[in-house]
Amino acid sequence: MNEFTLRNASAARSTSTFTPQRVLSGMRPTGRLHLGHYHGVLRNWIELQYEYECFFFVADWHALTTEYETPQIIADSVWEMLIDWLAAGVNPSAATLFVQSRVPEHAELHLLLSMITPLGWLERVPSYKDQQEKLNKELSTYGFLGYPLLQSADILAYRAGMVPVGEDQVAHVELTREVARRFNYLYGREPDFEERAEIAIKKLGKKNARLYRNLRRRYQEQGDIQSVEEGQALLQAQQHLSIGDRERLFGYLEGVGKIILPEPQPLLTRVAKVPGLDGQKMSKSYGNTIMLREDPESITRKLRTMPTDPARVRRTDPGDPAKCPVWQLHQVYSTDEIRDWVQVGCRDATIGCLDCKQPVIDAVLEEQKPIQERAQEYLNQPDLMRSILLDGCAKARDVAHETLEEVRNAVGIVYR
Ligand code: TRP
Ligand code: SF4
Repeated sequence: MNEFTLRNASAARSTSTFTPQRVLSGMRPTGRLHLGHYHGVLRNWIELQYEYECFFFVADWHALTTEYETPQIIADSVWEMLIDWLAAGVNPSAATLFVQSRVPEHAELHLLLSMITPLGWLERVPSYKDQQEKLNKELSTYGFLGYPLLQSADILAYRAGMVPVGEDQVAHVELTREVARRFNYLYGREPDFEERAEIAIKKLGKKNARLYRNLRRRYQEQGDIQSVEEGQALLQAQQHLSIGDRERLFGYLEGVGKIILPEPQPLLTRVAKVPGLDGQKMSKSYGNTIMLREDPESITRKLRTMPTDPARVRRTDPGDPAKCPVWQLHQVYSTDEIRDWVQVGCRDATIGCLDCKQPVIDAVLEEQKPIQERAQEYLNQPDLMRSILLDGCAKARDVAHETLEEVRNAVGIVYR
């Protein structure tokens, strides 16, 4: 039985402490999505949703850290982005979809984490200075400096084990790991930790207790990582442990203290990159995009007029695919057979650039068909979209709420 079926078997309260199989990722609502997003992030999400328990959210507070002067962009983009996700094939019955600001637990955890996060950790996140320089906006704000920590709160509120991100976001997951470690170090140290852990071991039953002790010894004496993993799996399978005991035994296994917030791993998105119409990376700011839902005439026009190898001035001039952005599109969209045809035909000028583009145009339009159809279905049912988000937000809140109870407990700000 995996994590997901356990949760659904009404054991939800005791299984979410440590969830290596849970995936969480977010996207900023700052405009319509394009084919770069589709082939980069979205296709990856769509695969993950059938393998793991996935939470995908619209990061509207993150968008506000840079768009605070024109928040209308955010409001307009939230629904559009949700439609884009659904149209691309993100499945609301497989993944939980929600909006960050509807789950205020993110803000509470962000605040609590801010108490223990040294300023220097945030100042040295590479994207901080980069973006300040690149984005030509007033970004010496408290919110902008703190945004990677808000991302840490996003991740830790769900105790997610895996975070699919692009290269530029890996440093944020690394920060999250450091913050989690610091939190556990500060608040996972109960005065009577060892005695309580020993009592918890007895609750595992004779056989499992012996197994746990052996794995713990093997790790602590020989540093054998596999023993830790086996120990975690053993604990994961125990349905009758309380959350507190579970945290203790996870921590005791490695010899630290309770593990209240587990450290996540980045999951690097590695897929074929779609170039923009000019051969650079596809990006809204370069004005070189094809939208995820763009009308066929416009797509055809954009592709037909896109630049090719500048050496091919006349139809009879030979060219070199390596110097042509259309070739990069063939690498995403074409079969080997078509690619061979391009390589030969371009170099000996037996095909023209418009001939060469046609299979790409056909493939992009073909790819759009099911996407457009699904989008239309959702556009016709606004109530369905509202209920997808409502359900997703409720589910997300349940999980985040549980984490925050643990966090408040650990910090000691529970007043009964
Ligand atoms: N910061 C991410 C971006 O700008 C979006 C994001 C916010 C995110 N919170 C997250 C991604 C948590 C992964 C996990 O693209
Ligand atoms: Fe580019 Fe194709 Fe023209 Fe060659 S034939 S320059 S690969 S569009």
